[in-house]
Amino acid sequence: MKYILSPRNTSIKSIISLPTKPLMASSVALTQIQDQNPLRDLGDEQQQEVDSSSITDVVSQSRNLSGESLIERAWAHWTKLGKPKLIVAPMVDNSELPFRMLCRKYGAQAAYTPMLHSRIFTETEKYRREEFTTCEEDRPLFVQFCANDPDILLEAAKRVEPYCDYVDINLGCPQRIARRGNYGAFLMDNLPLVKSLVEKLASNLNVPVSCKIRVFPKLEDTIKYAKMLEEAGCSLLAVHGRTRDEKDQKKVRADWKAIKAVKSCIRVPVLANGNIRHMDDVHDCLRETGVDGVLSADSLLENPALFAGYRTPEWASVSEEANLDQADLLVEYLKLCETYPVPWRMIRAHVHKMLGEWFRIQPHVREDFNAQSKLTFEYLYNMVDQLRELGVRIPLHQKNFPLSGVQANGSAM
Ligand SMILES: Cc1cc2nc3c(=O)[nH]c(=O)nc-3n(C[C@H](O)[C@H](O)[C@H](O)COP(=O)(O)O)c2cc1C
Repeated sequence: MKYILSPRNTSIKSIISLPTKPLMASSVALTQIQDQNPLRDLGDEQQQEVDSSSITDVVSQSRNLSGESLIERAWAHWTKLGKPKLIVAPMVDNSELPFRMLCRKYGAQAAYTPMLHSRIFTETEKYRREEFTTCEEDRPLFVQFCANDPDILLEAAKRVEPYCDYVDINLGCPQRIARRGNYGAFLMDNLPLVKSLVEKLASNLNVPVSCKIRVFPKLEDTIKYAKMLEEAGCSLLAVHGRTRDEKDQKKVRADWKAIKAVKSCIRVPVLANGNIRHMDDVHDCLRETGVDGVLSADSLLENPALFAGYRTPEWASVSEEANLDQADLLVEYLKLCETYPVPWRMIRAHVHKMLGEWFRIQPHVREDFNAQSKLTFEYLYNMVDQLRELGVRIPLHQKNFPLSGVQANGSAM
């Protein structure tokens, strides 16, 4: 394991990279990195009909790779990790190292990397260096790949397995780019391929394999799907309770009943994803579904302190103003970015998410920010000061039961 020091900081931080080919962003700040991530096309797409008969075939043909020992190993691993319940969901360009570290500071007990493209990851050193960075404190960690070729997926997974606790397969991306690339939720049309991806990793990696899925429109199809994944060797299943068609997270509620049904029909740990906007949702979801943990995505982007019990004013009905606001969190995030460099496009995205409401009050500050073709940390810190001088302050709120109910050791709430 190699340690690289960041000259931008007085404190010495270690960023982990591969022994021979570095996986981390250069310790020099990455300015003006071009928009190269091929996974960011967020357009809508027509839906294909799913042939549910193929699901039954796959289950019946499935070689029983799981059995008692796989279930036992899955639980032993999960227990060793402390049974994390509060987890940062995978987000392209958004769940990168500094953001994960910020969320961990505020209560997240595990985190996913953004989805990495397995083929590009195996082929391109620059992609590896810019898109996957981690550090010793960044654990437990799920590294997520999209893939449609078991050999390529394994090659990519082998590179990261020393630095993570799960290699995760993205089976839920519903975007047009996933349809074009034949991965993510579009593999729901080709379950034999999904099975071969899971089996390939399960039988060749030292770390367990996890999968993140969406639900089928019909519950029985989702159940068969989950069972097939478990039999193929999936050691942990994250279920996003929306179908491939239900792309608008804000408009469509996730189906916790379907998640509960999955939890009750398979034996490996199950995580729920969807509708987690504050800690009340966490408690409700754990209680209603019986899952082992929850993922949050969009709401964490606005409020990375969500898992520490903080909430945005939108959800503040019975709470008190806290001594923390989104600008404080942004400043903390920026400092982490100085320690753990990332492409500026990721920083831009987080500025918009964390300061969205502040910008609405002072739109000219947003316009000036958008007009910057090249950002610097100095500009960003000054921008926060300027907003404060203009009198903008939107405090977060905190309810009186921050973390007591959900312990990292998995004890009951
Ligand atoms: C900006 C953004 C990027 C995302 N990227 C990924 C990804 O890389 N892999 C993945 O499995 N899901 C991805 N998702 C989906 C989330 O992980 C999650 O399933 C979805 O947003 C529902 O959770 P939420 O209701 O808490 O937002 C992304 C979501 C957002 C908002």
